[in-house]
Amino acid sequence: MKNNFVTAFAPASIGNVAVGFDMLGLAIENVGDRVSARKVEEPGVHIKEIYDEFGEIHMNLSKEASKNTASISALDFIETNNIDFGVELIIHKGIPLQSGMGSSAASAVAGVVAVNALLDEPLGKKDLLMHAIEGEKFASAGLHADNVAPSLFGGLVFCPQDELPNTIQLNLPNCISSIVLHPDLSVNTAESRASLKANYSLSDLLKQQSYLSGFILGVKESNLNLIERNLKDIIIEPQRSSAISCFDKVKNTAMENGAIGCSISGSGPSIFALCKNDDAELIASKMKHACENQNLKCETWISQSNSQGAVVE
Ligand code: HSE
Repeated sequence: MKNNFVTAFAPASIGNVAVGFDMLGLAIENVGDRVSARKVEEPGVHIKEIYDEFGEIHMNLSKEASKNTASISALDFIETNNIDFGVELIIHKGIPLQSGMGSSAASAVAGVVAVNALLDEPLGKKDLLMHAIEGEKFASAGLHADNVAPSLFGGLVFCPQDELPNTIQLNLPNCISSIVLHPDLSVNTAESRASLKANYSLSDLLKQQSYLSGFILGVKESNLNLIERNLKDIIIEPQRSSAISCFDKVKNTAMENGAIGCSISGSGPSIFALCKNDDAELIASKMKHACENQNLKCETWISQSNSQGAVVE
């Protein structure tokens, strides 16, 4: 007998991974959103409650189903697949809002994964991606899968728009960890995207193209030097970093202490670094110290690549 109530967990993620704006994303461990779904007779999707990371009622998110990425994605899934029951969702936000850690994407993914698990014959993850993207579109006003895809599939995912719903799974070498530092600031992704320049010089585009190719080759070959030489963003980072007052100090600190690369996670304000596993604790604590020296509180997470993605618990 199939469960009428399931809970899904979807991890946070690092959008862009510096080199691949909108087309590269990396899942992280130990932080994510949970969505529970209950089958109900009333058609459609309803949100019963939304809790914050402390288990309290969320003060900043609407329970209107048309304004939440989890319910938007779940409804798109139900309508597309002609599912004959409704669902009631309970959302537990584990990821801070407007943090650049893929919070809206993780809710969207967990929502679809939970509803899918209520089916007698659940679909495969690949069939869920475009529904999760529907929710993400509401939050960021753009079509990009660089948070949704790693949150769903896990690991490092190459997901250019023209290839969707196909994505390519890459794997970071096992010796690499990621650090995410979330300073006590917030950035609205839709606004941040809207303020990006519309035109770029050919020489900058060529340079960025070579960084992306070099990075992906470095990952495929587990070549740390190649990864390090190419983990760069000359297009987006310079436009967004000024909104993150601690960025320069935190990035310089990470690089001086041996990080392989450091840039903005998604649209920020979170900052991520990649480094060798053995260096992660030290680099994370130095980055935290550099941020706090700018009178900004922050939280950090260290993870090896989350290779599991979203799971039904
Ligand atoms: N690729 C998106 C952006 C990620 O940078 O706007 C948003 O988290």
